[in-house]
Amino acid sequence: MLAFMKIKYIFLLLTGLFALIYWSISSARKLNEKSVSTYSLEKNEDQPKNNSKLPYQDSSLSSEERVNNLLSRMTESEKIGQMALVERKYLGNINDIAQYKLGALLSGAGSLPEPNTPQGWTQMINSFQEQTQQTRLQIPLLYGVDAVHGHGNLAGATIFPHQIGLGATHDENLIKRIGEAVAKELRATGIYWNFAPSLDIATDNRWGRTYETFGSNPDLVSRLGRALIQGLQTTSTNEPIVMATAKHYLGAGATKWGTSTNQFYFLDQGQSTITEEKLRSTHLTPFKAAISEGVFSIMAGLHSWNGEKMAGHSYLLTEVLKNELGFKGFIVSDWHGVNQINPTNKYESVVKAINSGIDMVMIPDDYKEFFEVMYEALAKEDISQKRLNDAVSRILLAKFQIGLFEKSFTDQERFYEIDLLSHKELAREAVRKSVVLLKDTEHVLPLSKNNSHILVAGSSADNLGRQSGGWTIEWQGINGNQIPGTTILQAIKQTVDTTTVVEYSEEAKFPQITDLADIGIAVVGEKPYAEGEGDQEKLHLSTEDLLVIERLKQKSKKLIVLLICGRPIDIKNINHDIDVIITAWLPGTQGSGVTDVIFGDHPFTGILPIAWPIE
Ligand code: GLC
Repeated sequence: MLAFMKIKYIFLLLTGLFALIYWSISSARKLNEKSVSTYSLEKNEDQPKNNSKLPYQDSSLSSEERVNNLLSRMTESEKIGQMALVERKYLGNINDIAQYKLGALLSGAGSLPEPNTPQGWTQMINSFQEQTQQTRLQIPLLYGVDAVHGHGNLAGATIFPHQIGLGATHDENLIKRIGEAVAKELRATGIYWNFAPSLDIATDNRWGRTYETFGSNPDLVSRLGRALIQGLQTTSTNEPIVMATAKHYLGAGATKWGTSTNQFYFLDQGQSTITEEKLRSTHLTPFKAAISEGVFSIMAGLHSWNGEKMAGHSYLLTEVLKNELGFKGFIVSDWHGVNQINPTNKYESVVKAINSGIDMVMIPDDYKEFFEVMYEALAKEDISQKRLNDAVSRILLAKFQIGLFEKSFTDQERFYEIDLLSHKELAREAVRKSVVLLKDTEHVLPLSKNNSHILVAGSSADNLGRQSGGWTIEWQGINGNQIPGTTILQAIKQTVDTTTVVEYSEEAKFPQITDLADIGIAVVGEKPYAEGEGDQEKLHLSTEDLLVIERLKQKSKKLIVLLICGRPIDIKNINHDIDVIITAWLPGTQGSGVTDVIFGDHPFTGILPIAWPIE
């Protein structure tokens, strides 16, 4: 009996041991399957079977809790993907979004879907978002554009005055309302990231980016920058917030002529050597205002300060912006800005940029190389896990805070909000408040709407492309009337009554005119440009424009020169021959705002946001 009991005991022991071995092998295999699926496109291993939410997907938790939960689940490759900002046309294959778990894409100026319609934009961006749904963690994509004066890439969007004109309004409430309108038009096409406002301080009118600024007064730039951020980042029922980006940190407007690292430019992307005191008191002030307004991201510029490229400036990015000012959002580098740190050594550039405080890299093209560099730098601990997690946490925090995890796809139900009549009227209000009267010593204005003979001429009289300037459909802007809107000429014709005769010749050739017309209006100024392409040493009117003014003077009793330009143009040499000089800056598509003040329906209220000597 005893022997039987012994055998039975040993059998039971062996059975238990076998079961234990089997269980441990099978669970190890399961664990291994999980780690393998980390890098695969398998439908998420993490998702609970019954579709209940994981903590990071639970909007009832705080954004910080969600960030921590999500970060704890992320692999290194998933983290690197969140730090990459790729321009859409450099995507080798749309599936690379899922393959590389990319966290952000952008449309550079002129990088448009086909067709360039609200449907075209929505379908394109939704197709990108769809890719993220194939990844393990399904982190939604940020899509960014430069809606610096309206959704400028989209044909048919309302184009507001560029910031230099908005600076002349000195009207924070107006600027906030513009931000709200622009955000609506962006959201309607699934875009929740705007690389605006520029908080640069204009110090040298020769700079091609002067018109992108609110002017040269730090206090004015701060107030209007805050207002625009407030408007753009307005919360909206069950729609993500549009994230603003304060740019170009720090002191992009303080560079010296002839120091650009771009061989074709002179000021843009140049060197600044102003004192730290000046950098702080003048150029940092608007960024402090933006941080207190809760701006979600800040873009490091392509310029240098004291010989150091901004994307690699640890003192300004980490010491000042993150530690001293407590910026909790994320810092994004500008176009190729990281590569510019050391053009001959991508590895050194990326390590320097990330360790200096860049959280997201606007690569914008070779993302595969970016991944290789990041893997190597992390493996060698040239970039620490701590820095990696800090950068990714900042990016994820913004995504949670703007509501991107709750809604990242766009339906077509909001297309009606694009170029709404109310947006056109808002743009018209902005135009009339931006127009500045530079000279009217004979009190020629306001013009009469009736019983008058008006001659209109000039390169910018009937040209929405010139009215809109750069960052409109194309990076360098467009020529002619390819977009909807009201030109200055059309506005004049719509304003006067039937007893007034309006005649137009772009070159001011009026052979039929024998008696002097009552009024001649020369609408002249600058061709569209953007960034360093607009760096120009001599700021004066073209020969053609001067000829138009001369011809019109011969045919009119009173001569008005209306300037369509992005910065103060030197008109001292023609000032004495002209009765009225007005600047409308770059007013955008609503030219009627100009005639509202010229014909007296509204007073001139615009105040120069930048010095413009005309004597
Ligand atoms: C440009 C500009 C920057 C813009 C970015 C993306 O180079 O410097 O203002 O936001 O690229 O288009």
